[in-house]
Amino acid sequence: MADSGATHSLITRSTLARFPHPPAQKTFKPIAVLGDASTAIAVHGSVLLCIYINSIPIYTSVFIVDSLGADIILGMNWCHNNNVLLRVPQQQLLIRHPRYGATTVPFLDIVYVPIRLAQSIQLALHHEHIVSLYAPVPSALPVFCTLDSLLCMEKQLVISDVVLKINRFHTYMLIHNSANTPCTLRAHTIIGLEKPSVNQIQIHPWYHNRDIVNYCRENDIAVMGYSPLAKAKKIDDETVIEIAKKLSKTPAQVLIRWSVQHGFITIPKTSQESRLISNADVFNWSIPDSDMKILDSLGDLHWSCTWDPTKNTLKEAGLQQVLSE
Ligand SMILES: NC(=O)c1ccc[n+]([C@@H]2O[C@H](COP(=O)([O-])OP(=O)(O)OC[C@H]3O[C@@H](n4cnc5c(N)ncnc54)[C@H](OP(=O)(O)O)[C@@H]3O)[C@@H](O)[C@H]2O)c1
Repeated sequence: MADSGATHSLITRSTLARFPHPPAQKTFKPIAVLGDASTAIAVHGSVLLCIYINSIPIYTSVFIVDSLGADIILGMNWCHNNNVLLRVPQQQLLIRHPRYGATTVPFLDIVYVPIRLAQSIQLALHHEHIVSLYAPVPSALPVFCTLDSLLCMEKQLVISDVVLKINRFHTYMLIHNSANTPCTLRAHTIIGLEKPSVNQIQIHPWYHNRDIVNYCRENDIAVMGYSPLAKAKKIDDETVIEIAKKLSKTPAQVLIRWSVQHGFITIPKTSQESRLISNADVFNWSIPDSDMKILDSLGDLHWSCTWDPTKNTLKEAGLQQVLSE
């Protein structure tokens, strides 16, 4: 993460342990003060790292710390020493290297961090509370967090979704208890979630989940499609059978290949060894574009093979009773 508010660059000990690096050097001061001019952080020395950006090697001295909201933060020292310009309107970093020339890197100005309750709270029915939260970011204006929608649904809470100011890793949010019962939340409850690496959603030719797929792709979240065979409920579909015959493949292979060809991680299930072997044989051939379009058009009717948490109620999933216990 490049942080325009951080005066120094920082790396966590666990991140540093993941790759070979020169020995750490002692620092004169065991404490660094971050860009908000008030958050002090203990440092365990510094290390000179070579960071490649678009194949351009950039050397930078980085403080080693225990924990951060990111694996590594490149601060203003990195920008100043390496001719790096933050082009905020274009959402770009411009790097001008005397030997390798210039390169640009796009950046997002949104940071996703896990946000936890700093103290236990009792929410009376229909009451609003401003609660103190712990956010692993020293300072930011504003930081977005993805709210834990299951927690909000389960407890009937309405939580403001923008953190306006974080100072010394603490911030505040407004929580409204819209349920008819009081609600207790323990300290350390996660209110907002970290950006996930992978999102597992239902995907097959009859259910494309396009909004979520687009969001994931724009936000660098890998998409994993479950029930790629639509739970075998459409395995006799005429269109799929026709394409399978033309390509000398099984309908299951066509459905799995459709997911692979769209770039989804896919997880078909079978209890039969012969099907497992044949289902895995989807990587050295492809479905022609014209047939992909025909398969894509099956999704226009938006047919779901199972319960979908974004569209169906908990009752439809038989979950209501479990959650209220
Ligand atoms: N995250 C979630 O909420 C969620 C929800 C649903 C599923 N999933 C996961 O997604 C994975 C797969 O999903 P799924 O089991 O729902 O559905 P699926 O993979 O779309 O379909 C499985 C069904 O297809 C049949 N099948 C497999 N290969 C076949 C073939 N070559 N020809 C004919 N039929 C074939 C299987 O029967 P046989 O076993 O008899 O071969 C089984 O009935 C599982 O790992 C599951 O845990 C996750």
